[in-house]
Amino acid sequence: MSPFYPPEQIDLISSYNDIVEIISQYLPLKRSGRNYKALCPFHSEKTPSFMVSPEKQIYHCFGCGAGGNVFSFIMRKENMTFPEAVRFLARRANIELPEFDSRIASKKEQLLKLHELAAGFFHWGLTDSKSGESARRYIEKREITGPTIEKFKLGYAQPAWDSFLKHARKKGYKPETLLEAGLILKRSRGDGYYDRFRNRLIVPVCDGRGRIIAFGGRVLDDSQPKYINSPDTPLFRKGNTLFGLHRSRDAIMASGTAILGEGYFDVIRAHQEKVENMICSQGTAFTEIQAQVLRRYTGKVVVAYDSDRAGMEAALRGLTVFLRKNFEVRIVTLPPGEDPDSFIRGAGAEAFKKLVIGSMPLLDFKLNQLCRVNDIATDQGKLAVVREMLDTISIIESAVLRETYEKKLAERLGVSPGAVREEYGKIKRPVNPPRTAQPSTPRKVNKYEVRLLKYLMENDTVLSFVQDELDPEAFSPPLQPIVTLMLELFRQGKTPLSRTLVTVLQDKKSQELVSRWLMEPQSPAPQISEVADLLINIQKKRLRAKINECRKSVGRRGIAGKEAAAFLGKSIELTRELKELPARIRMKIRL
Ligand code: UTP
Ligand code: MN
Repeated sequence: MSPFYPPEQIDLISSYNDIVEIISQYLPLKRSGRNYKALCPFHSEKTPSFMVSPEKQIYHCFGCGAGGNVFSFIMRKENMTFPEAVRFLARRANIELPEFDSRIASKKEQLLKLHELAAGFFHWGLTDSKSGESARRYIEKREITGPTIEKFKLGYAQPAWDSFLKHARKKGYKPETLLEAGLILKRSRGDGYYDRFRNRLIVPVCDGRGRIIAFGGRVLDDSQPKYINSPDTPLFRKGNTLFGLHRSRDAIMASGTAILGEGYFDVIRAHQEKVENMICSQGTAFTEIQAQVLRRYTGKVVVAYDSDRAGMEAALRGLTVFLRKNFEVRIVTLPPGEDPDSFIRGAGAEAFKKLVIGSMPLLDFKLNQLCRVNDIATDQGKLAVVREMLDTISIIESAVLRETYEKKLAERLGVSPGAVREEYGKIKRPVNPPRTAQPSTPRKVNKYEVRLLKYLMENDTVLSFVQDELDPEAFSPPLQPIVTLMLELFRQGKTPLSRTLVTVLQDKKSQELVSRWLMEPQSPAPQISEVADLLINIQKKRLRAKINECRKSVGRRGIAGKEAAAFLGKSIELTRELKELPARIRMKIRL
């Protein structure tokens, strides 16, 4: 959801910008029943499959799947961001936004100032405070130097429950603001608040302009969790931020390569030792957005992950987001037990640079790995390697590169390139569908789930009965944000739900999904009993998965008796819930 413009404002603007009128300024629309039709402006086609609904104020192309409302149309046609499109259309309708704009600007401004204040307080905690002694010793032991502490504005959060809270209140900040910034938490019992970061080394996280927007806090010993991070706030989203980017940008452009580490200290160490093109994603898999941001500065990434990191395979899979954005991806192999931080500290920056230069293309690396874990003397082993490899190769957009890798793969396994190609024909190509009209199946979603959501979106009375039964996580991943948002809007009393939803959904894919549902009539609309069944089935699936997980945990090796009993208890409880589920849901819906 846009953090900037509340739905009412957006509604007002869209009510003054009729979608038919707006789109007509870009392409000729022809009436077709209740809708308008045109050749799709977003892909090339000979027969019109681009539809505009004046009633629902949305468009959808049944050819390429593009769809949305007047804002998304302008965003795409004029290459604007959402707020830009909002301002563009507001201006067109002579709606003034200034007061509103400045309120948001000042809100962000306030949160930025608060982060600045916090960073200063934490920094003082590390450099000057009495209780910062243990942190100073820790930092010294890690061989982090004074200039690095200054450069990264490292800090230390006091051990007391409310040191920062008190400090910020003295400066005039209200608890609500501190809460919104993620710097304090509400006590679970009674009222009152306490500091999120306590007795931790503090690493400020900056945005692309170098403004502090979040913090990471590390324990000074081996206790868990090792890091606590700021939650998502109006300033910060973990999946959008690349730690260290504003400091590394110049070096990335100059060297033509970005080195991806795993953690804060990999980046901090690298910078200290003048390897300045390193960034990291703060422990999570790289997201599409992060890859896109990085793409502005380079098309080459070198990945330097811990060599023995659990789930190296999963880590490799997480890198496909870079292949999809046409990055050249290479992998550094660090000695066992090392991460870039420890390696640079021990062996020096020059040795690390050598490893970077000697890094291996992702696909070669993956092929080596697969050949190690599969017995490629057997047909089964060969097949396993081919399938896994083709999964990755199919993501590459360049046909030339793909062919090179298919050949390499065939050679390595001692099979003919023809055989590999034949296998290749069997797997679905997940991306890069041909540009010309192709009936679109945008993302894998369960059609029963869609049927239920479509119904609930237009029947908010039923939704009000079953809202507590809707668990976003029970839905296929692409639908989850839609369910979450639907519930949120519903609880805020927004109707009609379906249209508001298209307006507020920021993710393009979700917006396309919803606009498409709205265009397609529900045929035939489900009976109320079917609605109950759909909901029951979806919830059952989720419960069963949970039960399975518990059962597996019970049997896991090395699990303590007490823990096993807890899992067992949980699974019994879930099984009871499963049994009672149908009756409960039917009753709610009949009400
Ligand atoms: P690591 O455990 O590899 O941390 O996690 P690190 O940076 O090497 O830490 P040191 O060297 O032990 O101090 C990598 C990154 O994952 C995130 C942090 O961003 C960390 O830098 N992480 C890790 C968390 O957010 N929470 C955790 O509990 C652990
Ligand atoms: Mn480390």
